[in-house]
Amino acid sequence: MKPAHILFAILATRSFQSHAIDIEAGKKKAEACIPCHGANGNSAVPTFPVLAGQSARYIYLQLKDFKEGARKNPMMTPMAANLSKEDMQDVAAYFADQQPLRIKFNADPERVKLGFAKSQEVLCTMCHLGGMKGQNEIPKLAGQHYDYIFKQLTDFKARNRTNDAGNMAAVSQTLSDDDIINISHYIANIN
Ligand code: HEC
Ligand code: HEC
Repeated sequence: MKPAHILFAILATRSFQSHAIDIEAGKKKAEACIPCHGANGNSAVPTFPVLAGQSARYIYLQLKDFKEGARKNPMMTPMAANLSKEDMQDVAAYFADQQPLRIKFNADPERVKLGFAKSQEVLCTMCHLGGMKGQNEIPKLAGQHYDYIFKQLTDFKARNRTNDAGNMAAVSQTLSDDDIINISHYIANIN
């Protein structure tokens, strides 16, 4: 390697790895989140989303959106306010690395069937993937709490949540109130 190439390699490494993601540090920083999001991010309260096993990229982007005011919630906004970019990356990596537990929810089998059919018709899996397992900036939905999913779909439809670059705003307009209930039963019931 010529010296100029070596210098370039060093500069490139420095700019791409300015922060080494630290799951252990993330675990410590996540202590503030446990009262609401549950041990390891396995929330027991259905209005607080499960974070265990969620995509790290998605968690990071949501924290950034809460901090910058693109997504608003009276409980979450103050929690994100004091997190640095490094804090967000570390807690996101920590929660993504946790094993999600099955939530407690008595799904109505008829609504699960209807919710599944609607999700096929509207092509939710085109973005959220088969089994709603998510990818990168697209959240995992499988096994998420009924109350939380119901609220998000309602918020997207009413345009109370608008940090989705229009993806969910468009989709949610095609859902009736009953579709939202059925889809939330279906999602909460996926292992
Ligand atoms: C006082 C309770 C509370 C605390 C503490 C709290 N959260 Fe939250 N969090 C919430 C609520 C409520 C929501 C759902 C907001 C909504 O309905 O849109 C949420 C949503 C989120 C989301 C969005 C998840 C998704 O699926 O879109 C992330 C990510 C998140 N919280 C991370 C954290 C992290 C990291 C911490 C700790 C630094 C934390 N929260 C602390 C209550 C809390
Ligand atoms: C064109 C791609 C696309 C399609 C199709 C799509 N979604 Fe989404 N969905 C997204 C993206 C991107 C986000 C994350 C938005 C953000 O960053 O805030 C999201 C977020 C969500 C959330 C919020 C999850 C959370 O943890 O807060 C729910 C619930 C959801 N989608 C349900 C659905 C359902 C149900 C369908 C089918 C009826 C669907 N989506 C179809 C792209 C899509």
